[in-house]
Amino acid sequence: HPALAVSRAALLPPPGGPGDPAGQELPVESRPFASYGSALHIALPQAPRAGQLLTLLIDYEAGEGPGVCWLSPEQTAGKQKPYMYTQGQAVLNRSFFPCFDTPSVKFTYSATVKVPEGFTAVMSATSWEKQKDNTFVFKMSQPIPSYLIALVVGDIVSADVGPRSRVWAEPCLIEAAKKEYDGVIEEFLVVGEKLFGPYVWGRYDILFMPPSFPFGGMENPCLTFVTPCLLAGDRSLVDVIIHEISHSWFGNLVTNATWGEFWLNEGFTMYAQRRISTEVYGLPYACLEASTGRALLRQHMDATGEDHPLNKLRVVIEPGFCLFLGVNPDDTYNETPYEKGYCFVSYLAHLVGNQSKFDAFLQAYVNRFKFQSITADDTLGFFLEYFPELKEKGVDSIPGFEFDRWLNTPGWPPYLPDLSPGQQLMRPADELAELWAADGLNMEAIEAVDITGWRMYQLVYFLDQVLQRSPLPEGNVKRLSKMYPKISEAQNAELRLRWCQILLKNNLEAEYSKVKDFLHSQGKQKYTLPLYRAMWGGSEAARALAMETFSATAPQLHVNVQNYVKKILGLAGAE
Ligand code: BES
Ligand code: ZN
Repeated sequence: HPALAVSRAALLPPPGGPGDPAGQELPVESRPFASYGSALHIALPQAPRAGQLLTLLIDYEAGEGPGVCWLSPEQTAGKQKPYMYTQGQAVLNRSFFPCFDTPSVKFTYSATVKVPEGFTAVMSATSWEKQKDNTFVFKMSQPIPSYLIALVVGDIVSADVGPRSRVWAEPCLIEAAKKEYDGVIEEFLVVGEKLFGPYVWGRYDILFMPPSFPFGGMENPCLTFVTPCLLAGDRSLVDVIIHEISHSWFGNLVTNATWGEFWLNEGFTMYAQRRISTEVYGLPYACLEASTGRALLRQHMDATGEDHPLNKLRVVIEPGFCLFLGVNPDDTYNETPYEKGYCFVSYLAHLVGNQSKFDAFLQAYVNRFKFQSITADDTLGFFLEYFPELKEKGVDSIPGFEFDRWLNTPGWPPYLPDLSPGQQLMRPADELAELWAADGLNMEAIEAVDITGWRMYQLVYFLDQVLQRSPLPEGNVKRLSKMYPKISEAQNAELRLRWCQILLKNNLEAEYSKVKDFLHSQGKQKYTLPLYRAMWGGSEAARALAMETFSATAPQLHVNVQNYVKKILGLAGAE
């Protein structure tokens, strides 16, 4: 990455062998590769023998690149000390350290990190130790791809929440973090192990990030990073944790070999997440959560057009030498790999027709490909090999459901899993949304519905239904807002997102300050972009709100998110 300054490369003498311990300096050259990085060429003094072990020492300086984020004290929860974190996925770690920055290469690592007095360093590592002089030594003893190396330095402390889990957060958040997850993590790990095999990473810790962290969660091994939005006070956003835990098998153990097949990570993880969720919370709840996922896929496909080339599971990624050529792997982050991927895995389960047989397959799949990076062909080949009777039946080429079509044709999934077990939770929400969408409101019927006992995802589902029917007849949203302060004044981020989308779709300018407040309070990409899209596609007032909010919050946003918002607002020049 242009932000990584390599100053010297040297070939070290073989361990224990003769030679200068500083190594023999080698010529280094950067050659063009892509808009998001170049190739580092190091000329060896002579061609190596096959199987020969070479040790290279590369001196470099990093800091200004997109993978390394520096936050001022004001951008933290405590507002006292600065903070730094790295985010590698998909192709940002090349600006953090020189590496084979592709998920197809796995390696162990160790790191020695010296920080200023009063700061703590944590990494995605299987062991760590604090030495004198504020120096921390980390070791990851399992092979992982480059994108899973992560570092945080800040004023952070930890608290135990389970036999192999603790939460990390700034001191002012640690009590809330402990309360949110005390005693709940272990059950997810145990269920995950029962379903998918041993948890190989030792610890499973959670780090609460500053509000500008662009993701809900990031599955850095041993240490998941999460948005502080998860501190909802009622454990209602625990699905994100179950999702990141599921990556311990799908993604971190069995890894997509290229970002063009990102669905192998995320589609299998969505499936695993909902399997764990089903075991812990029951099928109705898991189906309810899955149907909110389906709504996100619908919204995404409506926004981009079903035929968009990114709406297939196997995406063509070409490096390209400037912004207008090629596809950057970071730009393929959307609902398709998640929810269409989930549908495809569900389809495979449907072909098998028996949950415990399919669970056994998933466990065998993890065992077969653990610590490897694979393509969809490996996955599907193994599936057909594991179920020879299905192979014989030719299930890979059933007209309309061909595996090839799943992978290579954009559009709505040809098969949708049956979510009707969630009907008992969804039906009341459907009916209530119908009532609110009516021309003359039937207040008697509306008042007869008591939502006080609804689960958070029922409210989310209800709001999705209201949003789908929006704009509602004049005045309805205003009344809805008054009637349910639990929704319109919610602090829960998933509810706030939907409420803001409803406000914008219905031009309820009186409450636009809520959109602004929400965007000031956090910087998650999946919340930020839909709201800017809605504002930009809306009224003059909404557009003005977008401009005003962006100019105030841009410095707080992750640089990738900043750039995507600029594109939406037409501010992206020919950089
Ligand atoms: N690995 C992803 C986050 C990610 C994807 C970072 C692509 C960079 C590039 C993580 O596991 C994830 O999917 N997070 C979701 C959680 C949700 C699906 C429960 C998120 O952040 O919303
Ligand atoms: Zn994920």
